[in-house]
Amino acid sequence: MDRNLALEFVRITEAAALASSKWMGRGDEKAADQAAVDAMRKAFNSVRINGTVVIGEGERDEAPMLYIGEKVGTCDSRANCPDVDIALDPLEGTTICATGGVGAISVIAVAESGGFLHAPDTYMDKIAVGPAAKGSIDIDAPPEDNVRQVAKALGKDVDEVTVVILNRPRHEELIARVRKLGARIHLIGDGDVSAAVATSWNETGIDLLLGTGGAPEGVIAAAALKCTGGDFQGRLKFRSGDERERAKRMGITDLDRAYRLEGLAKGNVMFCATGVTGGPMLKGVRFLPGRKALTHSVVMRSQTGTVRTIEAEHALDRKPVAVI
Ligand code: FBP
Repeated sequence: MDRNLALEFVRITEAAALASSKWMGRGDEKAADQAAVDAMRKAFNSVRINGTVVIGEGERDEAPMLYIGEKVGTCDSRANCPDVDIALDPLEGTTICATGGVGAISVIAVAESGGFLHAPDTYMDKIAVGPAAKGSIDIDAPPEDNVRQVAKALGKDVDEVTVVILNRPRHEELIARVRKLGARIHLIGDGDVSAAVATSWNETGIDLLLGTGGAPEGVIAAAALKCTGGDFQGRLKFRSGDERERAKRMGITDLDRAYRLEGLAKGNVMFCATGVTGGPMLKGVRFLPGRKALTHSVVMRSQTGTVRTIEAEHALDRKPVAVI
């Protein structure tokens, strides 16, 4: 994958973030998501790739745009375009955006063809840490062991470790156990991709992500942690027989497999995200006087481990949002 391609992808997440951020706090999740999808789909037309969406807005019959299997990018047969698989979420944290909350992002991860697990739209048990705690987690171990091991790897006492967990009834027992152990907890309403990636940024103070969230989001987070040198492990968690059947149709044979990083995001990958609302790692879109807007993005490549943050000022009158 070409290094310059990474910068092309930022334009796409910037476009989606700018479009959806207009819907911040307006209480309309659907409209916010649709704005992000439309802008992202249009922006793909300016990137010279032969891309296939493997994690997207749903299956073809559910999503008119950015559906699983959709081809994206401009690539004529003569051009030397890479074949890439794309995992995307035009607006990760639709409720966050609709309520003006913390940490909505627009995100794309890219792998060489066949690099991503084709995760069905089900849940995933997840555990994630940044590079300093790599090697200390195990999805099969009890949460107490994982927290203790992470504390040891980071040279912290257990009561100095911060665990991020989605605030859901299904996590009642997990939260109780982590509290009993004495670790700090940061409960979030939504947005476990940002939360997983935040484990790699020391200044966020987040050390470990535990709990169950969306499986597609798990693959996207795994791509990010591969780039940062952190770790991510997951196991699919199905809510119904239908979901199990869907997973089989998507080529998953071992439904109970504990996925390590390489099983989720294989080979060279790239991750890029733009903040929609301000969060632990990225600032949100800010509209300035004079029809200008600021965006804050991060682009990372696993091959080099480079983490690049990009602050851009956009002159909104000069270009349509989708071709920033
Ligand atoms: P959306 O952007 O699709 O609303 O997802 C937000 C999110 O919080 C994810 O970050 C997380 O993985 C998932 O939803 C959790 O699912 P649920 O809300 O069903 O617990």
